Amino acid sequence: MEGSLGIIGAGSMAEALLKGMLSCQLFSPGNIFVINRKNDERLIFFKENYGVNTTRDYRELVNRCAIIIIAVKPSDMGELLTRIQEHVTRNHIIISVAAGIHTSFIEKRLKKKVQVVRAMPNTSCQVKESATAISRGRFAGDEAVKVAQEIFSSVGKVVIVEEHALDAVTALSGSGPAYVYLMLEAMTEAGIKVGLMREVSQQLAIQTVFGAAKMAMESGEAPVHLRKKVTSPGGTTMAGISTLQQMGFTASIMEAIRCAAERSRQMMIENSR
Ligand SMILES: NC(=O)c1ccc[n+]([C@@H]2O[C@H](COP(=O)([O-])OP(=O)(O)OC[C@H]3O[C@@H](n4cnc5c(N)ncnc54)[C@H](OP(=O)(O)O)[C@@H]3O)[C@@H](O)[C@H]2O)c1
Repeated sequence: MEGSLGIIGAGSMAEALLKGMLSCQLFSPGNIFVINRKNDERLIFFKENYGVNTTRDYRELVNRCAIIIIAVKPSDMGELLTRIQEHVTRNHIIISVAAGIHTSFIEKRLKKKVQVVRAMPNTSCQVKESATAISRGRFAGDEAVKVAQEIFSSVGKVVIVEEHALDAVTALSGSGPAYVYLMLEAMTEAGIKVGLMREVSQQLAIQTVFGAAKMAMESGEAPVHLRKKVTSPGGTTMAGISTLQQMGFTASIMEAIRCAAERSRQMMIENSR
């Protein structure tokens, strides 16, 4: 990609994105500038491990970089935007990963018609398998969306949605890895109860979820068809599936995602104050 990239925040999300972008050679390390607030060791780590430039000067970073990723905690966004406001121009592309911070909040704090794209990745971006949704702010053009799409494609799959859908995204794919970890915990414990060693049970559970996800991804078949294909009447899978259904498996997941979306909506209101 042409030009320089600024990354504000040097936490785990920033590092995952940096790794992904460098491995896809989206930017060369010399064209990347990273800033954080006070953790010197972290900046040294970024410089030594990834060969990127580091700075503590917001003006330098904003002036040098046409594209800026903001990866600070939602609670730090207000203060950060105030700090960079005077240096940001309408030509910048600002990409925010801060959960629950609306593009209009960023536009308002930057006090200009700046191009803002919001992204909701998930923790699996650390293994380049994120499910990321992006949405554009009022002033963001197609080029800004394309840039964000390319950046997040370096750490997984990307979908484009309207901003109002991001609460649903947060509830489904943002929080989703934790639901799957819970299922892995349950499958592992259940395997132990029916006679397996912990290590064997955990390994089988993880590989089973991974394999099923890969099958759903690569076969292109809807999960409902895949499930029906492997569930013969009167068989073992049928016994397991019937029990899951009787005990409210589907209803639990529906309710979990509804509650998480509601919480995301509430947090958005709290963060916009
Ligand atoms: N982790 C995930 O999987 C994930 C998933 C989806 C979305 N997100 C979003 O990604 C964002 C970052 O999350 P994270 O887990 O990477 O957080 P993190 O590890 O706590 O990192 C936050 C970084 O922001 C820096 N920072 C805070 N205020 C700053 C300021 N005024 N100027 C410059 N840097 C500043 C901190 O610097 P110091 O250490 O020097 O204070 C730190 O490097 C959050 O908004 C979160 O909602 C994360």
